[in-house]
Amino acid sequence: ASGSRMARPPVLALLLAAAAAAGWTAAQNCTCLTNKWTVCNPTGSGGGCQCTVLGSSHVADCSTLTSKCLLMRARTSPHKARKLIEPGERAVVDNDGLYSPDCDGWGRFKARQCNGSDVCWCVNSVGVRRTDKGDRTLQCDELVRTSYILINLRHGARSPAFNRSELARALRRLFRERYRLSPEYVTAVEYERPTIQIELRQNASQKARGEVDIADVAYYFERDVKGESVFHNPHLGLELRGEPLRVEDTMIYYVDDKPPQFSMKRMTAGLIAVVAVVALAIVAGIVVLVISNKRKSGKYEKVEIKEMGDMNKQLDS
Ligand SMILES: *[C@@H]1O[C@H](CO)[C@@H](O)[C@H](O)[C@H]1NC(C)=O
Ligand SMILES: *[C@@H]1O[C@H](CO)[C@@H](O)[C@H](O)[C@H]1NC(C)=O
Ligand SMILES: *[C@@H]1O[C@H](CO)[C@@H](O)[C@H](O)[C@H]1NC(C)=O
Ligand SMILES: *[C@@H]1O[C@H](CO)[C@@H](O)[C@H](O)[C@H]1NC(C)=O
Repeated sequence: ASGSRMARPPVLALLLAAAAAAGWTAAQNCTCLTNKWTVCNPTGSGGGCQCTVLGSSHVADCSTLTSKCLLMRARTSPHKARKLIEPGERAVVDNDGLYSPDCDGWGRFKARQCNGSDVCWCVNSVGVRRTDKGDRTLQCDELVRTSYILINLRHGARSPAFNRSELARALRRLFRERYRLSPEYVTAVEYERPTIQIELRQNASQKARGEVDIADVAYYFERDVKGESVFHNPHLGLELRGEPLRVEDTMIYYVDDKPPQFSMKRMTAGLIAVVAVVALAIVAGIVVLVISNKRKSGKYEKVEIKEMGDMNKQLDS
Protein backbone atom coordinates (compact mmCIF):
# COMPACT_ATOMS: atom_id res chain seq x y z
CA ALA A 1 0.00 0.00 0.00
CA SER A 2 2.41 2.63 -1.12
CA GLY A 3 2.51 5.28 -3.83
CA SER A 4 5.16 5.47 -6.47
CA ARG A 5 7.55 8.30 -7.04
CA MET A 6 7.06 9.97 -10.33
CA ALA A 7 9.62 11.61 -12.58
CA ARG A 8 7.50 14.40 -13.93
CA PRO A 9 5.25 16.80 -12.08
CA PRO A 10 1.55 15.93 -12.07
CA VAL A 11 -0.23 17.64 -14.91
CA LEU A 12 -3.81 17.23 -13.90
CA ALA A 13 -5.50 20.29 -12.58
CA LEU A 14 -8.05 17.94 -11.12
CA LEU A 15 -5.48 16.12 -9.11
CA LEU A 16 -3.88 19.37 -8.07
CA ALA A 17 -7.20 20.63 -6.80
CA ALA A 18 -7.72 17.43 -4.85
CA ALA A 19 -4.11 17.45 -3.70
CA ALA A 20 -4.23 21.04 -2.57
CA ALA A 21 -7.38 20.26 -0.65
CA ALA A 22 -5.64 17.30 0.96
CA GLY A 23 -2.80 19.56 1.98
CA TRP A 24 0.14 18.65 -0.17
CA THR A 25 1.80 20.40 -3.05
CA ALA A 26 3.24 19.18 -6.30
CA ALA A 27 6.75 19.84 -5.01
CA GLN A 28 6.32 16.98 -2.57
CA ASN A 29 5.88 14.71 -5.48
CA CYS A 30 3.83 11.88 -4.09
CA THR A 31 1.47 10.38 -6.66
CA CYS A 32 -0.12 7.07 -7.59
CA LEU A 33 1.04 6.19 -11.09
CA THR A 34 -1.63 3.55 -11.68
CA ASN A 35 -4.54 5.64 -10.45
CA LYS A 36 -4.83 9.39 -10.76
CA TRP A 37 -8.22 9.32 -9.03
CA THR A 38 -6.47 9.25 -5.68
CA VAL A 39 -5.41 11.66 -3.00
CA CYS A 40 -1.85 11.01 -1.88
CA ASN A 41 -0.08 12.07 1.26
CA PRO A 42 3.54 11.63 2.26
CA THR A 43 3.86 9.40 5.30
CA GLY A 44 6.53 9.82 7.93
CA SER A 45 9.86 11.38 7.17
CA GLY A 46 11.21 8.44 5.18
CA GLY A 47 9.60 9.66 1.98
CA GLY A 48 6.71 7.19 2.09
CA CYS A 49 3.51 8.02 0.30
CA GLN A 50 -0.02 6.78 0.87
CA CYS A 51 -2.79 7.22 -1.65
CA THR A 52 -6.50 6.97 -0.92
CA VAL A 53 -8.97 6.30 -3.72
CA LEU A 54 -11.43 9.18 -4.19
CA GLY A 55 -14.93 8.38 -3.07
CA SER A 56 -13.84 5.79 -0.49
CA SER A 57 -11.39 5.34 2.34
CA HIS A 58 -9.66 2.53 0.47
CA VAL A 59 -5.86 2.79 0.34
CA ALA A 60 -4.69 2.25 -3.23
CA ASP A 61 -2.04 -0.31 -4.10
CA CYS A 62 -0.23 1.79 -6.65
CA SER A 63 1.85 -1.13 -7.88
CA THR A 64 -1.17 -2.64 -9.61
CA LEU A 65 -4.56 -1.75 -11.07
CA THR A 66 -7.32 -0.47 -8.82
CA SER A 67 -10.57 -2.44 -8.98
CA LYS A 68 -13.28 -1.23 -11.34
CA CYS A 69 -15.74 -0.88 -8.48
CA LEU A 70 -13.51 1.61 -6.64
CA LEU A 71 -12.75 3.43 -9.89
CA MET A 72 -16.45 3.83 -10.63
CA ARG A 73 -16.96 5.20 -7.14
CA ALA A 74 -14.09 7.62 -7.64
CA ARG A 75 -15.47 8.68 -10.99
CA THR A 76 -18.88 9.41 -9.58
CA SER A 77 -17.48 10.92 -6.42
CA PRO A 78 -18.32 14.59 -5.90
CA HIS A 79 -14.76 15.25 -4.67
CA LYS A 80 -13.40 14.63 -8.09
CA ALA A 81 -15.33 17.47 -9.66
CA ARG A 82 -14.77 19.93 -6.84
CA LYS A 83 -14.27 22.79 -9.29
CA LEU A 84 -17.23 21.92 -11.48
CA ILE A 85 -20.90 22.69 -11.18
CA GLU A 86 -22.86 19.97 -9.45
CA PRO A 87 -26.10 19.21 -11.24
CA GLY A 88 -27.76 18.41 -7.91
CA GLU A 89 -29.48 15.45 -6.34
CA ARG A 90 -32.46 15.37 -8.62
CA ALA A 91 -30.65 15.64 -11.92
CA VAL A 92 -30.64 12.48 -14.02
CA VAL A 93 -28.60 11.25 -16.92
CA ASP A 94 -29.88 8.73 -19.44
CA ASN A 95 -27.17 6.34 -18.58
CA ASP A 96 -27.61 3.09 -16.78
CA GLY A 97 -23.94 2.23 -17.17
CA LEU A 98 -22.53 4.71 -14.69
CA TYR A 99 -23.59 4.71 -11.06
CA SER A 100 -21.81 5.04 -7.78
CA PRO A 101 -21.41 1.42 -6.76
CA ASP A 102 -21.11 -0.23 -3.37
CA CYS A 103 -17.79 -2.03 -3.09
CA ASP A 104 -16.82 -4.71 -0.59
CA GLY A 105 -13.67 -4.70 1.53
CA TRP A 106 -11.63 -6.06 -1.38
CA GLY A 107 -12.86 -3.34 -3.70
CA ARG A 108 -15.10 -5.74 -5.61
CA PHE A 109 -18.68 -4.97 -6.55
CA LYS A 110 -21.26 -6.06 -4.05
CA ALA A 111 -23.69 -8.41 -5.76
CA ARG A 112 -26.61 -6.11 -5.01
CA GLN A 113 -26.48 -2.47 -5.94
CA CYS A 114 -29.13 0.06 -5.03
CA ASN A 115 -29.86 3.44 -6.42
CA GLY A 116 -30.88 5.92 -3.80
CA SER A 117 -33.25 4.31 -1.38
CA ASP A 118 -35.52 1.83 -3.05
CA VAL A 119 -34.33 0.71 -6.48
CA CYS A 120 -32.02 -2.31 -6.43
CA TRP A 121 -30.57 -4.71 -8.98
CA CYS A 122 -27.93 -7.45 -9.17
CA VAL A 123 -24.63 -6.99 -10.95
CA ASN A 124 -21.87 -9.25 -12.22
CA SER A 125 -18.17 -8.93 -11.40
CA VAL A 126 -17.78 -6.09 -13.91
CA GLY A 127 -20.59 -4.16 -12.22
CA VAL A 128 -23.04 -4.46 -15.10
CA ARG A 129 -26.67 -5.01 -14.20
CA ARG A 130 -27.80 -8.59 -14.85
CA THR A 131 -31.34 -8.61 -13.48
CA ASP A 132 -34.42 -6.46 -13.72
CA LYS A 133 -34.61 -3.71 -11.18
CA GLY A 134 -36.51 -4.43 -8.03
CA ASP A 135 -37.11 -2.96 -4.62
CA ARG A 136 -35.26 -3.43 -1.33
CA THR A 137 -36.54 -7.00 -1.04
CA LEU A 138 -34.53 -8.08 -4.11
CA GLN A 139 -32.04 -10.84 -3.27
CA CYS A 140 -28.73 -11.31 -5.04
CA ASP A 141 -27.31 -14.56 -3.71
CA GLU A 142 -23.81 -14.30 -5.15
CA LEU A 143 -21.63 -12.11 -7.29
CA VAL A 144 -21.70 -13.86 -10.66
CA ARG A 145 -18.34 -13.81 -12.35
CA THR A 146 -17.76 -12.42 -15.83
CA SER A 147 -15.13 -14.81 -17.16
CA TYR A 148 -15.25 -13.74 -20.77
CA ILE A 149 -14.84 -10.23 -22.17
CA LEU A 150 -14.78 -9.42 -25.86
CA ILE A 151 -13.53 -5.97 -26.81
CA ASN A 152 -14.41 -4.73 -30.28
CA LEU A 153 -12.59 -1.66 -31.54
CA ARG A 154 -12.82 0.17 -34.82
CA HIS A 155 -9.98 2.29 -36.01
CA GLY A 156 -10.33 5.41 -38.15
CA ALA A 157 -11.36 4.91 -41.77
CA ARG A 158 -8.35 6.86 -42.94
CA SER A 159 -5.85 4.63 -41.20
CA PRO A 160 -4.20 2.18 -43.55
CA ALA A 161 -4.72 -1.51 -42.94
CA PHE A 162 -2.38 -2.69 -40.22
CA ASN A 163 -0.33 -5.81 -40.48
CA ARG A 164 -2.40 -8.36 -38.62
CA SER A 165 0.36 -10.19 -36.81
CA GLU A 166 2.17 -7.00 -35.88
CA LEU A 167 -1.05 -5.50 -34.55
CA ALA A 168 -1.75 -8.61 -32.50
CA ARG A 169 1.74 -8.58 -31.09
CA ALA A 170 1.51 -4.88 -30.17
CA LEU A 171 -1.83 -5.38 -28.43
CA ARG A 172 -0.67 -8.42 -26.52
CA ARG A 173 2.36 -6.47 -25.36
CA LEU A 174 0.15 -3.57 -24.32
CA PHE A 175 -2.02 -5.83 -22.18
CA ARG A 176 1.00 -7.47 -20.62
CA GLU A 177 3.01 -4.33 -19.91
CA ARG A 178 0.50 -1.57 -19.35
CA TYR A 179 -2.29 -3.56 -17.67
CA ARG A 180 -0.08 -6.27 -16.14
CA LEU A 181 -2.32 -9.02 -17.47
CA SER A 182 -0.66 -12.38 -17.81
CA PRO A 183 -0.58 -13.29 -21.57
CA GLU A 184 -2.53 -16.53 -21.06
CA TYR A 185 -5.70 -14.49 -20.48
CA VAL A 186 -5.55 -12.74 -23.85
CA THR A 187 -6.98 -15.70 -25.71
CA ALA A 188 -7.37 -14.12 -29.13
CA VAL A 189 -6.70 -10.95 -31.11
CA GLU A 190 -8.50 -10.71 -34.45
CA TYR A 191 -8.31 -8.05 -37.11
CA GLU A 192 -10.50 -7.44 -40.13
CA ARG A 193 -10.00 -3.85 -41.19
CA PRO A 194 -11.22 -1.67 -39.54
CA THR A 195 -12.41 -3.97 -36.72
CA ILE A 196 -10.05 -5.20 -34.04
CA GLN A 197 -11.14 -7.78 -31.49
CA ILE A 198 -9.46 -8.64 -28.24
CA GLU A 199 -10.74 -11.63 -26.32
CA LEU A 200 -10.06 -11.93 -22.60
CA ARG A 201 -10.87 -15.11 -20.68
CA GLN A 202 -10.14 -15.68 -17.03
CA ASN A 203 -12.24 -17.93 -14.84
CA ALA A 204 -12.24 -18.00 -11.07
CA SER A 205 -10.08 -21.11 -10.78
CA GLN A 206 -7.45 -19.74 -13.17
CA LYS A 207 -7.05 -16.42 -11.44
CA ALA A 208 -4.20 -16.54 -8.94
CA ARG A 209 -3.93 -14.38 -5.84
CA GLY A 210 -2.69 -10.91 -6.59
CA GLU A 211 -3.30 -11.22 -10.30
CA VAL A 212 -5.21 -8.44 -12.01
CA ASP A 213 -8.79 -9.23 -12.97
CA ILE A 214 -9.92 -8.97 -16.58
CA ALA A 215 -12.78 -6.75 -15.32
CA ASP A 216 -10.30 -4.12 -14.16
CA VAL A 217 -8.06 -4.52 -17.20
CA ALA A 218 -11.00 -4.00 -19.55
CA TYR A 219 -12.03 -0.89 -17.62
CA TYR A 220 -8.53 0.66 -17.68
CA PHE A 221 -8.34 -0.11 -21.39
CA GLU A 222 -11.79 1.37 -22.04
CA ARG A 223 -10.82 4.60 -20.24
CA ASP A 224 -7.54 4.68 -22.15
CA VAL A 225 -9.09 4.38 -25.60
CA LYS A 226 -11.70 6.97 -24.67
CA GLY A 227 -8.95 9.43 -23.83
CA GLU A 228 -9.79 9.47 -20.11
CA SER A 229 -6.92 7.41 -18.80
CA VAL A 230 -6.84 6.36 -15.17
CA PHE A 231 -3.05 6.16 -15.36
CA HIS A 232 -0.92 9.23 -14.92
CA ASN A 233 0.69 8.48 -18.22
CA PRO A 234 -2.14 8.72 -20.74
CA HIS A 235 -0.07 7.51 -23.69
CA LEU A 236 -0.97 4.04 -24.85
CA GLY A 237 2.11 4.06 -27.04
CA LEU A 238 0.26 1.95 -29.56
CA GLU A 239 2.00 2.62 -32.83
CA LEU A 240 2.80 0.34 -35.73
CA ARG A 241 5.51 1.42 -38.12
CA GLY A 242 5.02 5.01 -37.03
CA GLU A 243 1.28 4.84 -37.59
CA PRO A 244 -0.71 5.45 -34.37
CA LEU A 245 -3.78 3.34 -33.72
CA ARG A 246 -6.70 5.74 -33.40
CA VAL A 247 -9.75 4.05 -31.97
CA GLU A 248 -13.07 5.54 -33.07
CA ASP A 249 -15.54 3.12 -31.69
CA THR A 250 -15.51 0.70 -28.78
CA MET A 251 -17.95 -2.05 -27.93
CA ILE A 252 -17.39 -4.35 -25.02
CA TYR A 253 -19.29 -7.61 -24.55
CA TYR A 254 -19.42 -9.24 -21.16
CA VAL A 255 -20.32 -12.88 -20.80
CA ASP A 256 -21.22 -14.11 -17.33
CA ASP A 257 -20.75 -17.59 -15.95
CA LYS A 258 -24.52 -17.73 -15.49
CA PRO A 259 -27.27 -16.34 -17.72
CA PRO A 260 -28.66 -13.00 -16.61
CA GLN A 261 -32.25 -12.83 -15.46
CA PHE A 262 -34.15 -10.28 -17.45
CA SER A 263 -37.83 -10.60 -18.09
CA MET A 264 -38.78 -11.13 -21.72
CA LYS A 265 -40.29 -7.74 -22.30
CA ARG A 266 -36.87 -6.13 -22.38
CA MET A 267 -35.99 -7.74 -25.66
CA THR A 268 -36.66 -5.35 -28.49
CA ALA A 269 -36.33 -5.77 -32.23
CA GLY A 270 -33.50 -3.29 -32.27
CA LEU A 271 -31.35 -5.55 -30.18
CA ILE A 272 -31.75 -8.62 -32.27
CA ALA A 273 -29.29 -7.43 -34.89
CA VAL A 274 -26.65 -7.04 -32.21
CA VAL A 275 -27.40 -10.45 -30.81
CA ALA A 276 -27.20 -12.07 -34.21
CA VAL A 277 -23.63 -10.89 -34.65
CA VAL A 278 -22.70 -12.10 -31.22
CA ALA A 279 -24.45 -15.42 -31.78
CA LEU A 280 -21.94 -16.31 -34.46
CA ALA A 281 -19.08 -15.96 -32.06
CA ILE A 282 -20.54 -17.42 -28.95
CA VAL A 283 -21.96 -20.81 -28.23
CA ALA A 284 -25.72 -21.03 -27.80
CA GLY A 285 -26.95 -20.76 -24.26
CA ILE A 286 -24.42 -18.17 -23.23
CA VAL A 287 -25.63 -14.75 -22.49
CA VAL A 288 -24.10 -11.48 -23.24
CA LEU A 289 -24.20 -8.02 -21.81
CA VAL A 290 -23.07 -5.26 -24.03
CA ILE A 291 -21.83 -1.80 -23.34
CA SER A 292 -21.39 0.26 -26.39
CA ASN A 293 -19.84 3.63 -26.62
CA LYS A 294 -19.67 5.94 -29.56
CA ARG A 295 -16.69 8.01 -28.83
CA LYS A 296 -17.58 10.92 -31.06
CA SER A 297 -21.00 11.60 -29.64
CA GLY A 298 -19.86 10.80 -26.13
CA LYS A 299 -23.15 9.04 -25.68
CA TYR A 300 -23.31 5.83 -23.77
CA GLU A 301 -25.76 3.15 -24.61
CA LYS A 302 -26.21 -0.08 -22.85
CA VAL A 303 -27.75 -3.11 -24.37
CA GLU A 304 -28.82 -6.20 -22.59
CA ILE A 305 -29.01 -9.45 -24.37
CA LYS A 306 -30.85 -12.60 -23.52
CA GLU A 307 -30.16 -16.23 -23.91
CA MET A 308 -29.99 -17.52 -27.42
CA GLY A 309 -33.00 -19.76 -26.79
CA ASP A 310 -35.14 -16.77 -25.92
CA MET A 311 -33.84 -14.90 -28.89
CA ASN A 312 -34.81 -17.64 -31.29
CA LYS A 313 -38.30 -17.72 -29.84
CA GLN A 314 -38.50 -14.02 -30.37
CA LEU A 315 -37.28 -14.32 -33.96
CA ASP A 316 -39.82 -17.03 -34.71
CA SER A 317 -42.77 -15.06 -33.44
C1 LIG B 1 9.84 14.26 -8.13
O1 LIG B 1 10.77 13.26 -7.70
C2 LIG B 1 11.84 13.05 -8.60
C3 LIG B 1 12.72 11.93 -8.06
O2 LIG B 1 12.14 11.28 -7.01
C4 LIG B 1 12.63 14.34 -8.76
O3 LIG B 1 13.68 14.17 -9.70
C5 LIG B 1 11.71 15.45 -9.25
O4 LIG B 1 12.41 16.67 -9.32
C6 LIG B 1 10.53 15.60 -8.32
N1 LIG B 1 9.59 16.58 -8.86
C7 LIG B 1 9.11 17.58 -8.17
C8 LIG B 1 8.16 18.47 -8.86
O5 LIG B 1 9.42 17.75 -7.00
C1 LIG C 1 -30.00 5.62 -10.69
O1 LIG C 1 -30.64 6.83 -10.39
C2 LIG C 1 -30.36 7.85 -11.31
C3 LIG C 1 -31.06 9.09 -10.82
O2 LIG C 1 -31.57 8.94 -9.56
C4 LIG C 1 -30.84 7.42 -12.67
O3 LIG C 1 -30.55 8.43 -13.60
C5 LIG C 1 -30.15 6.15 -13.08
O4 LIG C 1 -30.64 5.70 -14.33
C6 LIG C 1 -30.39 5.09 -12.05
N1 LIG C 1 -29.61 3.91 -12.41
C7 LIG C 1 -30.11 2.71 -12.30
C8 LIG C 1 -29.22 1.60 -12.70
O5 LIG C 1 -31.22 2.51 -11.90
C1 LIG D 1 3.38 -8.72 -41.36
O1 LIG D 1 4.58 -8.61 -40.65
C2 LIG D 1 5.35 -9.81 -40.58
C3 LIG D 1 6.58 -9.55 -39.75
O2 LIG D 1 6.33 -8.79 -38.65
C4 LIG D 1 5.73 -10.25 -41.97
O3 LIG D 1 6.42 -11.49 -41.91
C5 LIG D 1 4.48 -10.42 -42.81
O4 LIG D 1 4.84 -10.72 -44.14
C6 LIG D 1 3.65 -9.13 -42.78
N1 LIG D 1 2.40 -9.37 -43.49
C7 LIG D 1 1.98 -8.56 -44.45
C8 LIG D 1 0.68 -8.95 -45.09
O5 LIG D 1 2.58 -7.57 -44.78
C1 LIG E 1 -10.99 -22.51 -16.23
O1 LIG E 1 -10.22 -22.41 -17.43
C2 LIG E 1 -9.32 -23.46 -17.62
C3 LIG E 1 -8.49 -23.16 -18.86
O2 LIG E 1 -9.29 -22.76 -19.92
C4 LIG E 1 -10.10 -24.78 -17.75
O3 LIG E 1 -9.20 -25.84 -17.93
C5 LIG E 1 -10.93 -24.98 -16.51
O4 LIG E 1 -11.74 -26.11 -16.68
C6 LIG E 1 -11.81 -23.78 -16.25
N1 LIG E 1 -12.46 -23.95 -14.97
C7 LIG E 1 -13.77 -23.72 -14.81
C8 LIG E 1 -14.29 -23.92 -13.45
O5 LIG E 1 -14.47 -23.38 -15.73
